[in-house]
Amino acid sequence: MDFLRFRSVSTKPEHGLEMRSCADWLCRLLKKGGFQAEVAETGGHPAVLARGPSVPGRPTVLIYGHYDVQPEDPAGLWSSPAFEPVIRNKRIWARGSTDNKGQIMAHILGAIHLLKSERTLPVNLIFLVEGEEEIGSTHLADLIRSRRDDLRCDVIAISDTGMVAEGYPTLTQSLRGIAAMEVIIRGPSMDLHSGIFGGAVMNPATALVKLLASLHNENGAVAVPGFYDDVVTLDEVERAAIASLHAKDADFFRETGVTALFGEAGYSTLERIGVRPTAEINGITSGYQGQGTKTVLPSVASAKLTFRLVPNQRPERALNLVEIFFRRQLPPGVEMEIIRGHGGLPYVIDLKSPWCAAALRALEETFGHPPAVMREGGSIPIVQTFRELLGVDTLLLGLASPDCRAHAPDENFPIENFEAGIRLHQALLRELAVRS
Ligand code: BES
Ligand code: MN
Repeated sequence: MDFLRFRSVSTKPEHGLEMRSCADWLCRLLKKGGFQAEVAETGGHPAVLARGPSVPGRPTVLIYGHYDVQPEDPAGLWSSPAFEPVIRNKRIWARGSTDNKGQIMAHILGAIHLLKSERTLPVNLIFLVEGEEEIGSTHLADLIRSRRDDLRCDVIAISDTGMVAEGYPTLTQSLRGIAAMEVIIRGPSMDLHSGIFGGAVMNPATALVKLLASLHNENGAVAVPGFYDDVVTLDEVERAAIASLHAKDADFFRETGVTALFGEAGYSTLERIGVRPTAEINGITSGYQGQGTKTVLPSVASAKLTFRLVPNQRPERALNLVEIFFRRQLPPGVEMEIIRGHGGLPYVIDLKSPWCAAALRALEETFGHPPAVMREGGSIPIVQTFRELLGVDTLLLGLASPDCRAHAPDENFPIENFEAGIRLHQALLRELAVRS
């Protein structure tokens, strides 16, 4: 609950100090729990790095998580304040309760209790808890490079993904990558009277929405030329595995409040989320936003976009293609600025690895039934970077319920998942210690 009270919103500069207090707090907790811990500077928000007692001859396992959270906005839609955690209906309600403070805390408590009761751990254990996951982990790769010796490990495990259904153990096989950009369209040097000038001057909001509308074709596919060039298509065995998960449209209706689904023709809902790339508008702004009407021709219009990527797409190339596509269509009388944001590569794990087998056994032991294997649509940008810089795979053992409302008002974490996470951590360390 103390952890959840920190307003550790990484994207808002005014929360910088609170980010640091949150990292300090976490570092103290780990030290008290028997870990060698430090707050590591990154050039951005700090990370917390901790190491358990050395266990010669045993594998080294790194548990990664993030203490930063998404903004609470829209704040008015929360049933109780985002940073004042409460327990209601056997769930903890607060920003970060699931994503990711609750899930990483389950691992930390699992380790601390194990260390206390057995005076040792089954493996060499490292915790890396960063403060910039929600803004693309921009400084973490440099930290990994400069501390490579301290981070050397055999495998990484993360709980920052979902469960296919409430209480149902899930191993995530893949994550999508991401590429973010902001498009700004500028026209007249000030907002104009839309009666005096309207009809004679290109409206930046009109120019923007035309560009945005051109992102998809009538089949729901991304219309940017070349966008799919590097996309790996799935074979029939992989498609059958996804089809066997039986996602019901009704579940999506209940979770989202929509009454119809939308997406790329020729693909199931789970394929659209797990293995196909997308273009999404995350925010869009222009002109008068207050009550009533104001007859104005806005001087600026802007939108924030993200593209979810799948193997073998790369963020840089995806953004290049979009920029070329937009430039070609830009009408005269307006200018376009594109600000590139964070990027992250997609990730897929080979299910045949012995580490996966150990993770599946730990999930089954903890939950009492065989785990599902899922392809997630979300992104954890550092996961593929771990593979490139440390040469290791990451096991994704999610504890998020389908209705956890991550990134939305009323985010919550079932206490049952929290307790399962503590047991899962302990089972995982035991299974990873013996591997194969
Ligand atoms: N926990 C999520 C990632 C996630 C969400 C994985 C759903 C699987 C299913 C993570 O904290 C997150 O939200 N990541 C961001 C990354 C981005 C801001 C670079 C995301 O996916 O939007
Ligand atoms: Mn998140």
